[in-house]
Formats: sequence, structure tokens, C-alpha cells
Amino acid sequence: MDAAVSGKKKIQWAQAHMPVLNRLKAQYASTQPFAGLRVGICLHLEAKTAYLARVLSDLGGEVAIAGSNPLSTQDDVAEALSQMGISVHSHYGATSKEYHDYLEAVAETRPHLIIDDGGDLVSLLHRRSDAWLDDIIGGAEETTTGLCRLRAMEAAEALRFPMVAVNDALSKYLFDNRYGTGQSVWDGIVRATNLVIAGKEVVVAGYGWCGKGVALRAKGLGARVTVTEIDPIMANEALMDGCRVSTMDEAATFGDIFVTVTGCRDVITRRHFDRMKDGAILANAGHFDIEVAVDQLEASAAKVSEVRKDIKAYEWPNGRRLYLLAEGRLVNLASADGHPAEIMDMSFSLQLLALGHLLENRDLKPAVYRVTDAIDQQVASLRLESLGVNIDALTEAQQEYLSSWE
Ligand code: ADE
Repeated sequence: MDAAVSGKKKIQWAQAHMPVLNRLKAQYASTQPFAGLRVGICLHLEAKTAYLARVLSDLGGEVAIAGSNPLSTQDDVAEALSQMGISVHSHYGATSKEYHDYLEAVAETRPHLIIDDGGDLVSLLHRRSDAWLDDIIGGAEETTTGLCRLRAMEAAEALRFPMVAVNDALSKYLFDNRYGTGQSVWDGIVRATNLVIAGKEVVVAGYGWCGKGVALRAKGLGARVTVTEIDPIMANEALMDGCRVSTMDEAATFGDIFVTVTGCRDVITRRHFDRMKDGAILANAGHFDIEVAVDQLEASAAKVSEVRKDIKAYEWPNGRRLYLLAEGRLVNLASADGHPAEIMDMSFSLQLLALGHLLENRDLKPAVYRVTDAIDQQVASLRLESLGVNIDALTEAQQEYLSSWE
């Protein structure tokens, strides 16, 4: 199939499964809130993202987009999107230089509004040219990793425009981080390996909302799950959720499949590789490719070969092999299609409303802002409405009871 045709079909499929975004698009169609505004996006460039870009453009925005990871861009989707009049800067397998050039191309459009995933676009805008900051009204960030960087900028008083923490909305992390990552990570691992999960020893590094989802779905697939943590509260939560908890040093000796999802670096390193079983599989679901120390794998292996698409075998001098999926990059996006459409529907609806909030509150100082409760509730309610699910409302007497102290 022609690339643009295949990409268009993927976008149409996503659109058909994103009812909240569709409702918002219909609601704002007549007012065109983004008319005359340039929107710069750095997100994983797959079908759901493409549909968000389309909606922003249909609501008047002049949209330029770069992919937020060299291995998550789907070229057919990128081609279809550019044929729809969006300025697209990305291709699958971009080199580090190309990746940064693409971000610069988006920055050079001098966006008024920004949507970022991981903080690379915002970081670039702050580092390169003061002029690039002039037109910016504000932006919204999609991930935990991006927010970590934004909060470091805020603490250092380096942040120059307001950013909305979409990741921290309840309608985001309870669903996207937990159920989205939980499902898409196993989708990626299963697609890449075509191996059974049942009966395997799965080691999940990090028990944040993403780690909880990955562990939950591993159990559902029949794996025995061990969690490694640095936080005693999360470690207790993992224990009470029925997981084994250990250090990575211990887990390295018995794990069949390792999934890193910590947001930190050097989670699995040479000293762990040295202890691993022959055939152990390493996958990363954290934003950056620094959780598994790939450089140490490269340096230690006697032989490296690609044994299957997205699987590299690192062979030790004694013949023991470790398998790394998707070069240690986000396995759910590099080896699969990212989170399900219904999940990204909520996350991207929050993104749209976060940008709207910035337009209605143009006097916000440079800082990181929570998504308002009203927006959070609006997205959750629209999703229930789209599903035809009704919920109860408090009576006046109940409201009075809940607000009294006597
Ligand atoms: N699709 C688009 N953005 C995504 C993200 N941050 N995680 C998973 N799937 C996605």
C-alpha cells in the first residue's frame, strides 16, 4: 500500500476511537480558538498524535511537528500528515543530529503554543536563542520525565514561559501511565519477540504509575513479577500488590525479561549484565534510552548481531547471550504503536484544553501549572458520555453533609 494511504487509514482508525477529542473539536469548530496562532509540537509521531495535530489545525492553528523519539515516528503517518497540510519534521531512524535539526525546524517556526513530550523542545527553545522565546504564550508537557526537567528549570528560575503539567492530571496518569503503558509495553515486547510471557520471571524496575501498569499486565499474562524500587513506600505497595521485591543485583540472577520504567539512568549496568542468565531479554519503557546502559553492553560484548527486527543479541566471550529490544528505546513505541487510541484520547484532550487554558489566562507567570480540576473532570465526563455510562450526582443534603463538621 502507498505510504500516504496507509498513514491516512491509521489516522482515520485513531480518529474513530477518540470520541472525547472529536467532541471537543465539534464544540470549538465555530470559534476557531487557535486561529492566527502557531503551534509547535514534539510528540511521538504516530496516528493518535497525527490526529491531535489535525484537530489543532482544523481549529485554526498553524501546526509544525517533530517526533519526540528517533524510533517512534511512523513514516507513513508522517507522510499522510504532511499531505494534510501540517509541517512535519521527522522520520523513523533519525540520527541524533537529524533529530535535533527537526526540533530546531519546529522552534524556528516561532510557535505561540507548545506541546512537548519529554522536554526536548522546551529545553532547546531556552538554550538557543532569546528571540525564539518572544512569541511564546506557553505550553503543555505530556510526561513525567518532561515535568522533572521543567521543575528543575523552574527551581533554577530558568523557565521563561508557563507550562501546564498534563502528565499530572488524574485523567492522564491513572489511565495513560498505568493502563496505556501496561498494555502497550507488552504489545511491543510480544510483537518484537513473538515469545510467551506466561511462566516467565519478569523484573520491572520502577513502581510509579507506569511500572504498576507494566507489572499488573505481566501478571495478567501469567508471569511471576519482581519489582525493584528505590522508594520504600512504592516497594511496600508492590509487595501488597502481590509482587516480589528485590534489588536489581538479586533480580539480575533470575530474571527472564527485564523492563526498566524508572525515568532514571543506569538502572541496569555491566555488573547486572554479568549476572544475567543466557537468553535474558532487556526492554526499556522509560522516556530516554539511558535506563539500560547500552554503551556498556556494546563495550562488553564479544559479538553483536541483529537476530530479529528490533532485537540485538549481545554475546559474551563464553557464548552467553543477552537480547536488547529496540536499542533500549521506548519499546511500546519503537516495537508497537504506543498506547491505545482510547487512552491517548484522554491525554490529548487534556493537551487541547490545557492550550485553551493558556489562551484564556495570558497573564500567567513562567511556572509549572496543574491542569485545573474543571478540565480534568471535563475530560473524564466526556469519556463517560461517549460510552453512554451514567454516574450519580450528590443530592443537596449529601453535599451539605459532606461540607459540615458538626
Ligand atoms: N502516542 C503518542 N504519544 C504517546 C506517548 N507519550 N506514550 C505512548 N503512546 C503515545
